[in-house]
Amino acid sequence: MSLFISFEGGEGSGKSTQAETLHKRLVDEHYQSLLLHEPGSTPLGRHMRDLLKGRPWGGETISHGAELFMFTAARAELVAKVIKPLMRQQRGIIIADRYADSTIAYQGYGRRMPIEELVTVNHLATQGVLPDLTFLLDCAPEEGLKRVGELQTVLPLEIADEALGGRVDREGTTRFEEESIDFHERIRVGYLKLAEQEPERFRIIDAAKSIEKIAEQIWSIVSEKLPGPSDAGPPELKLEFPA
Ligand code: TMP
Repeated sequence: MSLFISFEGGEGSGKSTQAETLHKRLVDEHYQSLLLHEPGSTPLGRHMRDLLKGRPWGGETISHGAELFMFTAARAELVAKVIKPLMRQQRGIIIADRYADSTIAYQGYGRRMPIEELVTVNHLATQGVLPDLTFLLDCAPEEGLKRVGELQTVLPLEIADEALGGRVDREGTTRFEEESIDFHERIRVGYLKLAEQEPERFRIIDAAKSIEKIAEQIWSIVSEKLPGPSDAGPPELKLEFPA
């Protein structure tokens, strides 16, 4: 069987740390696990990430429509090349650090693009593939942004960039963290609405708790859904893209 788990949350919510921790634990326990990060995890997705973060067109901002299609182009590629083939083979546990809910939260609630239309775009990009389980790491935007700010001031630029998943651009600023606190509040409200609409898929996690406590909470939820560890193949699934 395959299990598809996504992690969602605002800036500095700690979702990437938790996605990685879960992936490592699954591998340690001999499960086949693949960790994906959106946008990224395919050659096209990495280009999209570089474009979104690097602003090769100069100081001009990208229109909201173009931004939407860049994120969803990366998602369409990831679903077509990685997620769907794995699901067809019924192989492993797929962990996605952000997926379709990010578009509804950021472009829908944050940028105020029409939600119903975003649902259609998402549906086209994902071919209807939804996670079985979604962890929403919820915290006050002030708290999350403070964590991101601390990382950026404490670490040299390149290391902060890596720690923040490639969101620091060449001038040392970040695209979404610079938005108003209202923007981040709307994203939080949007995520909580999504969780309310689909309680069977979402688990809301209080991101103010310690990393260890959150990891334990997540593990206890995931372990209930796991089949016996697979004895076929290497535990860590690797991404392969033919040239
Ligand atoms: P990250 O926080 O996982 O590195 O994600 C990169 C940024 O892109 C983050 O600020 C959220 C934003 N984003 C969207 O606005 N829409 C999307 O569909 C996705 C996947 C990310």
